[in-house]
Amino acid sequence: MHTKSLQESYSLVKYPLAGHGKRNVEVLKKAFEQISGSIESEMYGKGKVIEDFQDKMANLLGKEAAVFFPSGTMAQQIALRIWCDEKGVAKVAYHPLSHLEIHEEDGLKELHHIETVLLADQTRVIELDDVTGMEEDVACLLLELPQREIGGQLPDYGTLEKISAYCREKGIKLQLDGARLLEVLPYYKKTAAEVCALFDSVYVSLYKGIGGIAGAVLAGSKEFTEKSKVWKRRHGGDLISLYPYILSADYYYDQRSGKMDAYYEEAKELAQLYNSCEGVYTLPTIPVSNMFHVHFEHPKGETEPILIQIQEETGIGFTGNLREKDSHSSYYEVSIGDLYEGVPKDLLNQSFQLLNEKMAKAFE
Ligand SMILES: Cc1ncc(COP(=O)(O)O)c(C=O)c1O
Repeated sequence: MHTKSLQESYSLVKYPLAGHGKRNVEVLKKAFEQISGSIESEMYGKGKVIEDFQDKMANLLGKEAAVFFPSGTMAQQIALRIWCDEKGVAKVAYHPLSHLEIHEEDGLKELHHIETVLLADQTRVIELDDVTGMEEDVACLLLELPQREIGGQLPDYGTLEKISAYCREKGIKLQLDGARLLEVLPYYKKTAAEVCALFDSVYVSLYKGIGGIAGAVLAGSKEFTEKSKVWKRRHGGDLISLYPYILSADYYYDQRSGKMDAYYEEAKELAQLYNSCEGVYTLPTIPVSNMFHVHFEHPKGETEPILIQIQEETGIGFTGNLREKDSHSSYYEVSIGDLYEGVPKDLLNQSFQLLNEKMAKAFE
């Protein structure tokens, strides 16, 4: 008999706990439903569609100007390149698990010949001491808020303020990897502009909590963003038409930017359910955004059948992607979106009761 993989079982559940729903064509169709067909495309980065959205994002982030990019990967490498050129120092600092270090095939090093200094370690966020103790001269420090690969952890806001003041004093530019910036505002109880005021340049993703198709915004001073446009052209990122991404990002920004508080509260509720199960814990224990990691003190190969069984029995979707941590443990990422509020509470509780029972049994 063919047994379903975790991925297959997840694709069939009625109630996935995380996310906004399937990434299918419907996402684009929905965004365009109400949009007039006569709106004209921007051309190579110029035109009303792109400029209006950029102004709206600059306003949100409290920066002089913002630029739409096809990807955060492109935007951030460019930001760091600009700061390195300005200082004449081809060196930057960031976390060892930052997106640039582990997911970009060394773009920063290979394309821009920029060296990196890794601050903190793989278990925690960058603290003030890591920054003040840095011996190397760097042009820029990049902080990722929240630090995704450790479950979306955050430094205290006071620490951020101190790091910012220190960097200004030492002539180190501060770049915010705010892929999930809106998602951390409820925890910090700050506006986007307040957080961004601590940074010289800022990147925000348009397809994570916001749930657009793809795309990113890079914001900063006018001088900085004008330079970033030149680099965008050099990278081939100045597509003749980016409006499908821009209009859908704008649509979903309007739909979801006001929901970040709810996602955050729901993430805390869901994390508590996981933490009530034997052999299961979340990182962070109490989430500080809409995301967290779920860890099993149990190998991937033995945890998967448990998850599949409960998903099939209850229709509640935990995950389609359990990753091996080491030979004894496994984990997955959860980001709360629109779907969670529609999950029936009785089924939710039933699925966690089952998870607790099955995990407890697995330890016998
Ligand atoms: C923290 C962080 N930074 C940067 C990126 C890059 O974004 P993009 O996929 O738009 O290149 C991601 C994407 O997952 C991310 O999670």
